[in-house]
Amino acid sequence: MRIFLFVVFLTPFFIALYSLFITQNVIDPIKYIYTFSGVVATVILFFTIIISLMKRFINLMKYRRMIGLFGFFYACLHIINFVVLDAQFDVDFIINNLIKKPFIYLGAMAFFILVFLALTSTKRLFRKYNKYHKTLYLSLVLITIHFILAQKSLDIYQIFYIFIIGVISIFKLIQIKNLFNRN
Ligand code: HEM
Repeated sequence: MRIFLFVVFLTPFFIALYSLFITQNVIDPIKYIYTFSGVVATVILFFTIIISLMKRFINLMKYRRMIGLFGFFYACLHIINFVVLDAQFDVDFIINNLIKKPFIYLGAMAFFILVFLALTSTKRLFRKYNKYHKTLYLSLVLITIHFILAQKSLDIYQIFYIFIIGVISIFKLIQIKNLFNRN
């Protein structure tokens, strides 16, 4: 199962490498990398929160950390694209964007939460910090706002993503409400 998940979650990465370096059919590589890494990271991170909802059908609970780290990996590619390819290490450009563009600082806040979650996801640190891992939900809210604000206009795919995010959120709220009622 672990190997299967590795293959599944690395496939988008290899597809992107293939388009960028082999077929070279990408017109705007920076935009392409933003979209591919941002969307894949978002999908994987949302997937991690529905693993507990799906466990009656397929139990991936013990792979949750690994899947979350894949989401983090794609988020890192997104940030590397920003710092290396878009900003070309220009500190003024980075700071100006972080200060002036709300969607960028919301994305940065979401990313800092992901860094904290990744660093504290080892067995030993998770025991100590697991209650703070609920901040993933805050990060997902920030990512959703970042994703919507990044669009100049919403196309049918983006409306579909937002619809799916809405459905997942409703199921999650029902699950959380049930947990509270049980206690
Ligand atoms: C410092 C942090 C971040 C920066 C500077 C940043 C930068 C950007 C930029 C510039 C865009 C617009 C690209 C374009 O269409 O021209 C974008 C879009 C996007 N970002 Fe981020 N981002 C950050 C964090 C994140 C994080 C943490 C995630 C998710 C894990 C994320 C997910 C997305 C998504 C899904 C899009 C929309 C892609 C599309 O529809 O084309 N971003 N980001």
